[in-house]
Amino acid sequence: MAHGNVPALMTAEKDERIIDGKAAAKAFRARVAERVEGFVKRHGTAPGLEVVLVGDDPASQVYTRNKEKAANKAGIRGALHRLPGDVDQAALIEQVAARNADDTVDGILVQLPLPKHLDETAVLDTIDPSKDVDGLHPMNAGLLSAGRRGLVACTPRGCMHLLSLTGVDLTGKHAVMVGRSNLMGKPMAQLLLAANATVTIAHSRTKNLQAVCASADVLVVAVGRPKMVGADWIKEGAVVIDVGINRTDDGKLVGDVDFEAALGKAAHITPVPGGVGPMTIACLLDNTVTAAELRRGETPSV
Ligand code: GUN
Repeated sequence: MAHGNVPALMTAEKDERIIDGKAAAKAFRARVAERVEGFVKRHGTAPGLEVVLVGDDPASQVYTRNKEKAANKAGIRGALHRLPGDVDQAALIEQVAARNADDTVDGILVQLPLPKHLDETAVLDTIDPSKDVDGLHPMNAGLLSAGRRGLVACTPRGCMHLLSLTGVDLTGKHAVMVGRSNLMGKPMAQLLLAANATVTIAHSRTKNLQAVCASADVLVVAVGRPKMVGADWIKEGAVVIDVGINRTDDGKLVGDVDFEAALGKAAHITPVPGGVGPMTIACLLDNTVTAAELRRGETPSV
């Protein structure tokens, strides 16, 4: 806690309200590395992850390079395949199919968004569901909806892990998920539901969005609008998970939540950067090990 009116961030002490995603991801990655070690002992080879990047979007280049690096650091065979921005649909699908057919590949991730001329749905549908470490294939999305084991999208998984670290029991709590994407909002809502929360999915067309958010015990925001959620949007004592990563005109990274304002209301909150972001890659690595184990008929070692 802060001393007098000295902000906690300026003291050596940690502000217990701030959920440290970097530390959480580090611990999570260490556990993944142990799982990889066990896998290598059993199979004589490491799980393999292939990341496919189309084009030269700067943010996607950074994300995919980080994924490849983090995989290799955890002992996973990570590889990044770059395809030109003007690659045609058939050639991209052929690349994905080749990775489906390659038995040394356990996880496939096609970085999104794809250039406009490509049909994202058709590409994602091509990925072998057993290698779909993004959890985006309709088979995995369907398994999640049905409450059955499948591969679950990485960012929602990361958010659930961060929520678990707060020690807050989600049972009966009102959880509001702002955003309805296949990558985040929909799977997150399913995971919150599976944890016995009462779940509202809100989005850009939701009436009285601010009031809906202010009724949340757990508020998860993934809309891509810098600092949209202010103090008035947050219930006293709520847990706030900010999935947004927005770059301001002066080059700073900010979330969808006004962090400083929210800190006065929230019991627990994730910062940006250093909150949800680091957990996404950690969960990608974890999903890769899970896929590798399931593909060999094993019960996942978690
Ligand atoms: N682009 C931004 N986040 C993600 C992600 O989690 N998976 C993929 N495939 N693309 C992304």
